[in-house]
Amino acid sequence: MVTDLADDLSLLRDLERRLLVYKFAIEELMTKLRILSEEFDSVHQHDPIEHITNRVKKPEGILEKLRRKGFPLDLDAIGDWLDDIAGVRVVCPFVSDVYRVKAMLARQHDVEILRTKDYIATPKPNGYRSLHLIVRIPVFLSDRVEHVKVEVQLRTIAMDFWATLEHKLFYKYDDSPPADFVGELMSTAMIAAQLDDRMESLHRRIHQDDH
Ligand code: GTP
Ligand code: MG
Repeated sequence: MVTDLADDLSLLRDLERRLLVYKFAIEELMTKLRILSEEFDSVHQHDPIEHITNRVKKPEGILEKLRRKGFPLDLDAIGDWLDDIAGVRVVCPFVSDVYRVKAMLARQHDVEILRTKDYIATPKPNGYRSLHLIVRIPVFLSDRVEHVKVEVQLRTIAMDFWATLEHKLFYKYDDSPPADFVGELMSTAMIAAQLDDRMESLHRRIHQDDH
């Protein structure tokens, strides 16, 4: 019993050490995004990024997800199984900015886009919209280079409003919420999508000559 506890603690400490490289990958990506934001704004008088948040998944969350999905508890391979240990969420003013930021990242030679899930073109059944990328970037350490995966979620302010509240309302349901909520939830997502469309067309009319 005592040894179990000691084993658990040493596993957690080991895992924490390995998570450092994910923090560095986030810092690299944050710098790239801040540069794109500031430089695009200075050239086009429009900042394509409203705000950015990030997080490294907590050790407890990582162990829980490995267990839940039936993946091995092998610290050397956690990055092979989990794509979302490092997460960056980019909130943009307009839908066009979401794709613009993706394109600007994709053009960078040290950013590999491993996977794209376009829940804007094809929303999830509950109405969730966002553009998800799994990217891989090099992190230069004292004695080696590590190529680290980061999950990037790009969305508009309206998509973020909806997703944040949907999560607050329904996170306790593992799967989908009860059937009597689904229609109402979907219809609120459609209102958010219409809002994005209307704001986008106002933006186009105002900035039509700029870019
Ligand atoms: P996971 O095992 O959850 O990582 O699923 P996945 O690998 O299929 O990932 P997916 O790209 O579908 O979603 C990853 C992340 O997007 C989640 O951890 C959430 O942050 C967000 N997300 C996905 N679906 C929803 C949703 O219906 N509502 C909200 N609020 N967020 C969502
Ligand atoms: Mg995921």
